[in-house]
Amino acid sequence: MKKGKKIYEGKAKILYETDRPAMVIQEFKDDATAFDATKRGSIKEKGVINNEISAALFQMLESKGIPTHFVKRLSDREMLIKKLEIIRVEVTIRNISAGGISKALGIEEGVVLKSPVLEYHYKNDALHDPLMNDYHIEILGLATSKEMKKIKDYSFSINEILKDFFDKVGLKLVDFKLEFGRYKGRILLGDEISPDTCRLWDKKTNEKLDKDRFRRDLGRIEEAYQEVLKRVKA
Ligand code: TMP
Repeated sequence: MKKGKKIYEGKAKILYETDRPAMVIQEFKDDATAFDATKRGSIKEKGVINNEISAALFQMLESKGIPTHFVKRLSDREMLIKKLEIIRVEVTIRNISAGGISKALGIEEGVVLKSPVLEYHYKNDALHDPLMNDYHIEILGLATSKEMKKIKDYSFSINEILKDFFDKVGLKLVDFKLEFGRYKGRILLGDEISPDTCRLWDKKTNEKLDKDRFRRDLGRIEEAYQEVLKRVKA
């Protein structure tokens, strides 16, 4: 697979063309940002770790019937993926209160929610990724209601699969963010699933093993990412 021109560079990943028009290479960087990129830094080996965690989780989800953009891991930092037309809606699912929902609704961190909460955010840096609902998605023409139904169903299924998977390796899935895209008329899960995009707490100690260690300067950041990788591979 030949690596071609850079198509896009985001905060944590770079996309490159390949010699096949329907396939792209997703390269994971060590760069980390938080709070709308007002905080910037780098986490040693994060790119390598997140590539491996994401690959393992995408494969696991595929085996349970969730279609993803993942094709194969190419190297330490690179995976081959199907080229999606990204839907500019970030889907967040929350099982335990933290971060955005604690701040917005005044729920202290760590409350187990009665049922999973699904949120949409507009993937738009200039507007600071505002919270939105199905009506906003409709008027902006970001996706059809049929597509959103599919996305919602996949997201709740992914939550059940991931919750169960992480539970078995001693981790609580607090919340996570997903992105989806169109590929040959189908909806596929895209982006990444990693400690950058999930909150994961140790089941016994509630120790945070995710990007909150970077957001809140808790230290031992790389160790936390390595710990998640170790458990995902176990
Ligand atoms: P939040 O509580 O800040 O809204 O974050 C919810 C989840 O989404 C959390 O696991 C981190 C993830 N997330 C991203 O992947 N990208 C983002 O830009 C934000 C704000 C959150």
